[in-house]
Amino acid sequence: MGKFYITTPIYYVNDEPHLGHAYTTILADVLSRYHRLFGDEVFFSTGTDEHGLKVQEAAKKRDVEPRFHCDEMVIRFLKLWKKLKIGYSKFIRTTENKHIFVVQSLLTYLYERGDIYFDTYVGKYCIPEERFWTEKDLIDGKCPSCGREVISIEEKNYFFKLSKYKDWLIEYIKEHPDFIKPESRRNEVLGFLKKPLSDLCISRPKTRLDWGIEIPFDKKYVTYVWFDALINYISAIGVYRNNDSFQKWWPCDIHLVGKDIITTHAVYWPIMLKSAGFELPETIFAHGWWLIKDTKMSKSLGNIVKPIDLIDKYGVENFRYVLMKNMILGSDASFSEEMLVNTINSDLANDYGNLLSRLVRMIEKYFQGEIPEPGVGNELDKKIIEGGKALPGTIKESVNKMKLNGALDSVLKYIRIINKYIEQTAPWNLHKEGEIEELKTVLYSACEGFRLVTILLAPIILNKAKTALSVFSEKEMKHIEDINTDEQFLTWGKLKPGIKIKAIKSIFPRIIHDKGGNRPKEDRVADWQGAEKIDMEYFNRIDIRVGKILEAAPVKRSKTLLKITLDLGEKKRQIVAGIAKHYKAEELIGKEIVVLVNLKPTKIMGIESNGMLLAATDKGNLSVISVDRDIKPGSKVS
Ligand code: ME8
Ligand code: MG
Repeated sequence: MGKFYITTPIYYVNDEPHLGHAYTTILADVLSRYHRLFGDEVFFSTGTDEHGLKVQEAAKKRDVEPRFHCDEMVIRFLKLWKKLKIGYSKFIRTTENKHIFVVQSLLTYLYERGDIYFDTYVGKYCIPEERFWTEKDLIDGKCPSCGREVISIEEKNYFFKLSKYKDWLIEYIKEHPDFIKPESRRNEVLGFLKKPLSDLCISRPKTRLDWGIEIPFDKKYVTYVWFDALINYISAIGVYRNNDSFQKWWPCDIHLVGKDIITTHAVYWPIMLKSAGFELPETIFAHGWWLIKDTKMSKSLGNIVKPIDLIDKYGVENFRYVLMKNMILGSDASFSEEMLVNTINSDLANDYGNLLSRLVRMIEKYFQGEIPEPGVGNELDKKIIEGGKALPGTIKESVNKMKLNGALDSVLKYIRIINKYIEQTAPWNLHKEGEIEELKTVLYSACEGFRLVTILLAPIILNKAKTALSVFSEKEMKHIEDINTDEQFLTWGKLKPGIKIKAIKSIFPRIIHDKGGNRPKEDRVADWQGAEKIDMEYFNRIDIRVGKILEAAPVKRSKTLLKITLDLGEKKRQIVAGIAKHYKAEELIGKEIVVLVNLKPTKIMGIESNGMLLAATDKGNLSVISVDRDIKPGSKVS
C-alpha cells in the first residue's frame, strides 16, 4: 500500500497520435491499473506539449492564433485516449495558466539562486527538434538527433548551469541503480556524461519565437520548449511547493518515456530538480520503439500506424493486449497486422476465450448452470489450486519490476495449465463414470483459476474482463472499477459455490485472416494445405463473376499494369491488373475471364480499379483464369 505517481511524455500537439504515442499511454494506463489493483493510490498524468516554433509556424500557415490551433489539435489526443479507455488522473496542457505559473516561479527561483545567467550563444539550431547543437555534435552537417538540416545562429540568451551539476549527477546515477532503467539506457546516459556537458540555453528571443512562456525577469524572451515541457510533471499534480497535492504525490515514481527522449529526462530534468531543491523521481523508464519491419515509424517514410483504424477493426481490448504482450519492456519490437491477429487468435480467442466457453458448457451440462462445491481434491487439483494462489503475487512482483510482458507470460502459462488440467481430468469421463465429487472439484477449481486470471488481465482487457467475470458473479458489474480496486478478490476461494452462472456469447471471437495479402506470396502458396478452414458462410461473402474483356491498354509509366474494361452483364467495370509482363493488351480483348467483383474499389497509380481478375501463378508463370464454354457475362461463379 502506498502512492504511485506515473507520467507519460507530453506529446507534441502538432503530430497526429500514432502507434508509439498510444503504446506509451496504454502502458502507463495498464501500470496504473495494476498498482490500483494491488492497493496503491495512483496518480497518472499525460498531456500535450504545445509551445515552440513548430506550433507557431503551423498556426501561421493556417492564419489562426497558436492557441486556437492547439485547441483544435489537442482533440485528436483526447479522442484517442477516450477510445483506448485511458483512465488518466490529469491531462496537462502546457498552455494552462497553472502550468505557466509553475514554470515562471521555477525560473525566478533558479535565476535568483544564480543557476541561470545571460550570455551570447553561437551555434547551430535544429528547428524541427527545437534543439541547439555545437558544430561537433552534427553528423554530416545535419542534426544528430533527427538528421535534418540545421541553421546557424548567434544571439543573446539565458543559460542554465548544467555543467555545475555534472559530477553530482554521475554520482547520483551510480548510487541509484533504479534511477534510470533499463540498464542499457543507464549506461547510455553515463556514456553521454563522460563527454563535456555545456550549459543549456533556455530562452528564445521573442523576435524569433513568441509562442512560449515568457521569462518573468526579461519580457523580451520566452522559455525554451523542453524547459517548459519537463516542468509539466510538477504542474500536473499541484501548484508548486507548499501544496497538499504536491506534497502527496512528489517525487514521481515512474516517468515513462521512449528511448528517443532519454537525455532530456535523465540529464536536464534531474539537474533542474536538484537546482530547485526538489527530490528526484524514483525511476525514469525508457521503453523501446515500435518498428515497422526494421525501421522506426516516420511521416516521411509514410509508415505511420494509426491506432484509430486498428481499434475500429479489431477492438480496443485486443489492441491493448497485443501491444502489452508483444513488446519486451526496454527492447524494440516490430509491429504488423499479422502479428496482431495471430496474438489475438492464439492467446485471447484460443487459450483464454475458449476456456470460458468450455467451462460454461460443462457447468450447464453437468450442474444445471450452478457452480459446484469443491471437495479436498487430489494431486492434480492441488497443482491448480497452488498455482492460482501463487499467481497474484507473481504478477505483483513482475509489475513492480517493470516486467510487464513477463507478468503476461505467467498469466498465459497458468491459463494453459488449466486447459491441460481439463484434458487430463476429462470431466466428460468423470461424469460418465459417476465420479461426481471429483467432477465438482475439477470444475470449481478450473472456474476459480479462470476467475483469478481474469482479474489479473482486467487492467489490460477492461470490459472484456468485466463481461467474463459477470458469468460468475451474483451482482451486476457496471464498471470496470468494480473489479479493479479490490485486492481481496484475488484470494483463492472467493468464487461462491451455488451461484448460477450467466451464459454469454464468446468473448474473444477468432479473427479470420481477411488480410492474407499481408503475408508474403510464397508463404501463402507453400502452406495451402495447412491453411485455415473457412465455412460456406464466409465463402459466400465473396462475389466472383464472369467478365468479358471489352478494352485493354497499358498504363502509362508502368511496366506491369494494364487498364481493363469489362462487360459484367448489366454494367461495365474498370479494373487495373498487374499482368502486363505476361499478356499483351490486344490478346486479351474478347476473353471471358473470372473477376472478384465485391473487392473494395481502390486507385492504382491514380487509376480507379473496381474489382480484381483471378489468375494462377507458378513462380515466373501467370495464367489468367477464363471460362471454357460460352456463358453470359455477369454469371456468378460458385
Ligand atoms: O518528444 N515507438 O513528444 P513526441 C514507441 N514533446 N513509442 C514511441 C514511438 C515509437 N515508434 N514514437 C513515439 C516529445 N513514441 C516531447 C516530450 S516530455 C516532457 C516532452 C512515444 O510527440 C514515446 O513515448 O515526439 C516517445 O518518447 C514519445 O512518443 C515522443 O512523443
Ligand atoms: Mg518525437
